[in-house]
Amino acid sequence: MIMEKLDKCLACVRSKTDFMPDTALVLGSGLGEYADHVRISEIINYSEIEGFPVSTVAGHKGRFVFGWIQDVPVVIMQGRVHYYEGYPMTDIVLPVRMMGLLGAKKLILTNAAGGVNPDFRPGDLMMITDQIATAVPSPLIGENPDTLGPRFPDMSEIYSRRMQEIIRLEAENLGIGLREGVYVQFTGPAYETPAEVRMCRAWGGDAVGMSTACEAVAARHMGMEICGISCITNMAAGISDKPLSHREVEETADRVADQFSRLITAIVKKV
Ligand code: HPA
Repeated sequence: MIMEKLDKCLACVRSKTDFMPDTALVLGSGLGEYADHVRISEIINYSEIEGFPVSTVAGHKGRFVFGWIQDVPVVIMQGRVHYYEGYPMTDIVLPVRMMGLLGAKKLILTNAAGGVNPDFRPGDLMMITDQIATAVPSPLIGENPDTLGPRFPDMSEIYSRRMQEIIRLEAENLGIGLREGVYVQFTGPAYETPAEVRMCRAWGGDAVGMSTACEAVAARHMGMEICGISCITNMAAGISDKPLSHREVEETADRVADQFSRLITAIVKKV
């Protein structure tokens, strides 16, 4: 079933483009404008792909952008669907799997996240070094598509150490004070309670969000090399006294868009 749906979507995309990406990039909430930096070859809206999950959140674009960053052929997801929108987890990770099947061997995941580490500040960029996905269902539950990967995949280096080393160097070269830490995924759509955020900290988390970790599991399952950047758009609930709002998330993401863009371009070029 999973492969049938994936093959159908893949055939649909292949009927529209023969572009061969080397690297895949997922742009998180408020970070979608980065796609303006791409020398565009083709754009395919998710709604043009039969059976493809389409975002229901206002302001979330939903399309694939194929093109080049510097000279690297990339496929970019401008907007993603989230588990809280009601799709099964296998649908949520279908786009990432499809980018893998289109030929992308490397994956750069980005997101907006709440800062759980009290040393962080809104506007910080955090390189994801590891993740906790246990608060959401695994996208690998159910029949295992053996052609994608094994039943029990190893996750001991889910975020590539090689890529992390490059990202550290590039951030330093650009003068960007990069944070590092563990990303924790919850389902949302409600922001966490202060008690949940304390739990998250006790677990060893540094940032919390509603995406990414499930995508990383599915991509790693099929052998993609992964890195991730979180934009800390706000302090998580209870870390500061301020109530959380989607508007603050968007405003902070806008504020750091320039730094974010410079870092992503450097990463794409060097990884
Ligand atoms: N919690 C969960 N998801 C988020 C947050 C948060 O504080 N900020 C941005 N996305």
